[in-house]
Amino acid sequence: MAIVFNEKDSTFTLHTKNTTYQMKVDQYGVLLHLYYGARTEGNMDYLLTYTDRGFSGNPHDAGQDRTYSLDVLPQEYPTFGTGDYRSPALIVKNHDGSFACDLRYYGHQITNGKYYLQGLPAVYAEAEEAQTLAIFLRDPVSGVQVRLMYGVLPEYDIITRTAIVKNKGSEPILLEKVLSASLDIVNGDFDLITFGGRYAMERIYNRDRMEQGSIVIGSRRGYSSHQFNPMMILAEHRTTENYGKCYAMSFVYSGAWKGKAERDHVELTRLQMGLHDENFSYPLAPEEAFVAPEVVMSCSTSGLARLSQNLHDCFRSHLCRGKYKESSRPILVNSWESCYFEFDGETIYKLAQDAADLGIDMVVMDDGWFGKRNSDRSSLGDWVVNEEKLGMPLGKLIERINALGVKFGIWIEPEGVSEDSDLYREHPDWAYVIPGRNPERSRSQLVLDFSRKEVVDTMFEKICAVLDQGNIEYVKWDCNRSIGNLYSHDTYSQSKVLFDYMLGVYDFMERLVQRYPNILFETCSGGGGRFDAGMLYYSPQIWTSDNTDAIDRLRIQYGTSFGYPVSCMGSHVSAVPNHQTGRITSMNTRGVVAMSGTFGYELNLSRLTAEEKEAVRRQIKTFRKYEKLIQQGRYYRLSNPYEDALVAWEFISKDQTEVLMSAVAQEVHGYMLIPYVKFRGLKRGTMYQDQTTGKMYPADALIDMGLPVIPSKEEYAATQMYLKIVE
Ligand code: GLA
Repeated sequence: MAIVFNEKDSTFTLHTKNTTYQMKVDQYGVLLHLYYGARTEGNMDYLLTYTDRGFSGNPHDAGQDRTYSLDVLPQEYPTFGTGDYRSPALIVKNHDGSFACDLRYYGHQITNGKYYLQGLPAVYAEAEEAQTLAIFLRDPVSGVQVRLMYGVLPEYDIITRTAIVKNKGSEPILLEKVLSASLDIVNGDFDLITFGGRYAMERIYNRDRMEQGSIVIGSRRGYSSHQFNPMMILAEHRTTENYGKCYAMSFVYSGAWKGKAERDHVELTRLQMGLHDENFSYPLAPEEAFVAPEVVMSCSTSGLARLSQNLHDCFRSHLCRGKYKESSRPILVNSWESCYFEFDGETIYKLAQDAADLGIDMVVMDDGWFGKRNSDRSSLGDWVVNEEKLGMPLGKLIERINALGVKFGIWIEPEGVSEDSDLYREHPDWAYVIPGRNPERSRSQLVLDFSRKEVVDTMFEKICAVLDQGNIEYVKWDCNRSIGNLYSHDTYSQSKVLFDYMLGVYDFMERLVQRYPNILFETCSGGGGRFDAGMLYYSPQIWTSDNTDAIDRLRIQYGTSFGYPVSCMGSHVSAVPNHQTGRITSMNTRGVVAMSGTFGYELNLSRLTAEEKEAVRRQIKTFRKYEKLIQQGRYYRLSNPYEDALVAWEFISKDQTEVLMSAVAQEVHGYMLIPYVKFRGLKRGTMYQDQTTGKMYPADALIDMGLPVIPSKEEYAATQMYLKIVE
């Protein structure tokens, strides 16, 4: 049993393969958090300490006992107004204007299988793979009820959490803040690892020491954002890739969010994640309920690599869905960096011809095929094929491309609208614009109000009308601006419109994946601006960044790998000098880096020299050879691109028989010191054979001493080494 309720001492214990999570209902009905760490039996309530602490008040129920204070005890779901002055997970504004909400336990339920959340993405599991715990709490005065949900996937060391808040009172209330998870850890010296960045440089690894106070990350942009990724890790200060305790929280949501780590006055650390509470004030009429999106948590007591692998495995098999979730993906060439807006049907057809010649499976026609779209200043919303520009109907173009043996994919951006579009001229009120104010433009576009059903329905019909014009096997769903000018024409919805927007997007995506089960979806947002677990529920791959420079990608993909499997990272070989950085790297280096992702191309293939074309053909063969290992193997970061000149990483099959090590030199200097790359996850006591040279290596030596990788005199040189076990 993954979930155990011990009636005698009122504890809930959640066991996964390697971890245990424990809570307790205390004598006042307060739900306290006890423990999250290495798997263990027993009751950990000995960790709670009771002493009189000044300025930490005491609930009335405690009588004259000054040693009981919610201001210092570890709580499972802290609320505002109970005497806990630390960061609350829930703030309710009652009808009388007060903010108090004092939640006490009144029941629970344990069921087999994993709960699901209507209208929201969430981890899923079969009845025998997971268990669900629902804990019922209520505030006796207002009637507010909270159901804390826990999904336990023992095999994956994963616990999911969320909260459902119901107004059981007789008056309307406002939810001012509803986080999905809050985790109190009574002691420890921690670092918070976050993934910040910006457009074209997403998920940059940051590691900050926790001092008294808090570190807050998040996005107010209406989408998960380039600036901070909704994933964070709390790691004991000494934790490394292969040592130490660490916790991850990843938000299965793509809109505005907040993550926070707070170290309080008694050195307890509180880690929290959920919806951003600014621009959010959710009205709940009597009997209405609010369902918060899910947070996925994992704990590793053996370092960061294991923590990442837990998330990778869970997301790959229990969050991604559909035909392509674990199967081989088409290698594609995307038209964006190949020709931007300058193309006609023949240009795309020529790209497909070159693709066929090189062994590339699919051509994707990116932005520019609809309305009068010849730049990013117009036509979003007018999802009508520009047959004049293409010189032929879309169906005809697809047929001709398919006749070459090449698949066809297309780009869309359903949420965007240009002021210069027929849609906007017809329905100006469908875009977020505050009446009486001029809207803020971004990339010359506005955002459609997807919180409105008629908008979602109309856009869905328009997009389907395009997708039904031929054999479209891939869709890139883009979203190219932050949401501003927020306004709802329905006053009641004004303060919840940003959340309802996201529900509208998810509704659209759900309908799309149901209607087109054979289409491979890749989501995107100006590159990797909406790279989150929520999107993975609808698209098994996400465009990682608009920055396709192989060397910058080392950092971007490194950061991304902490929270997301390689099988979902869109990664392409592009032209040199690189369009974002001007850097020149070899075809080999670009290939090795792009292979640590979904692998594809993004350049004008006909400009390649005969030699480069040969290299592409070889690359494709290489990728196909290692594809399964890359997609489904265990991923290890072998170095840190912020510290090491040589960046190395490894894929190893789960049965430990096959290993692919890749390495790229970020620097060349005179008299280079020789880096030793230490392998991970090999089967100790065995030998591994390099499949190119035939040379044998003892697993223990590769793990403990490493492999010297002799620097080459070529700038940014890359190598791959493929080994097999010799039993
Ligand atoms: C975004 C995407 C790019 C490309 C352009 C098209 O920036 O990230 O890959 O699709 O839009 O306008």
